Amino acid sequence: MGKIIRIGALISGSGTNLQAIIDSCESGKIDGKIVFIGSDNQDAQGLERGRRYKIPTFVVDYASIIRGFKKRPEEAMLPDDFDLSDLLPKQSLLIKKGDLEKAKTFITTRAIAEKELLDKMKPYPFDLLVLAGFMRNLTPYFIDRVNTDPDNPRIMNIHPAILPAFPGCDGYGDTFRYGCKAGGCTVHFIDYGEDTGPIIGQRVFQIYDDDTLESIKEKGLKLEWELYPECINLFAQRRLKTIKIEHAVKNGKKRERTVVKILPQN
Ligand code: GAR
Repeated sequence: MGKIIRIGALISGSGTNLQAIIDSCESGKIDGKIVFIGSDNQDAQGLERGRRYKIPTFVVDYASIIRGFKKRPEEAMLPDDFDLSDLLPKQSLLIKKGDLEKAKTFITTRAIAEKELLDKMKPYPFDLLVLAGFMRNLTPYFIDRVNTDPDNPRIMNIHPAILPAFPGCDGYGDTFRYGCKAGGCTVHFIDYGEDTGPIIGQRVFQIYDDDTLESIKEKGLKLEWELYPECINLFAQRRLKTIKIEHAVKNGKKRERTVVKILPQN
């Protein structure tokens, strides 16, 4: 077994996934150690969990950064290495959804917050960054500064739906309202899109007529607490490899997709 990995975590809320990861590190189910917990929300309950285990914590107040920018954009302190013309095309999905001005404001405000996040993460070198209920989209500004080797992504996320169905901020709600007969959760690497990155693992549960949104969330979270530590440990064992696969589709066209291959255990 190689050396244990250093894991950084970002959270926004209750941090039950974070707790599952902490427990798995403590029990040896993950060959890893959490080296920091960052949040965009100073009231995140998960921060308290970290403090209990003497894990360094910090907060970047996204909401006030965004408010401040909207009030006085001329006073914004942009990162020195901020280049909107490089970032905008990378997050083209956002531009398709809304107008260009909105996309510019989105990327600019998030990059200001992300620069602060990167500064606060700096004292704690890490091998893997896990998003554990972090409810902020990351921009290419942040992603490129963490994923310095494009062949070895190192930001993981857990999402409360069977991707690619129901990306966004309410996976279980969307699953329930759609009338799905199965729901689930997905762990994936982050790319520039919204919940579009290469899938590492998924778990599925049945939905019955008497299920409610609450019971669906309960079933889903239980699976999340198993799946996330398993995927993190695959990373720790260096068993996750991203590869580009090309498929022939209709009209002689080809489509390329980066997927995760899970390597066998040594
Ligand atoms: C989890 O259900 C997680 O999948 C979801 O937030 C919840 C966090 O719970 N994440 C997202 O929706 C990300 N887009 P937790 O704070 O108790 O771990």
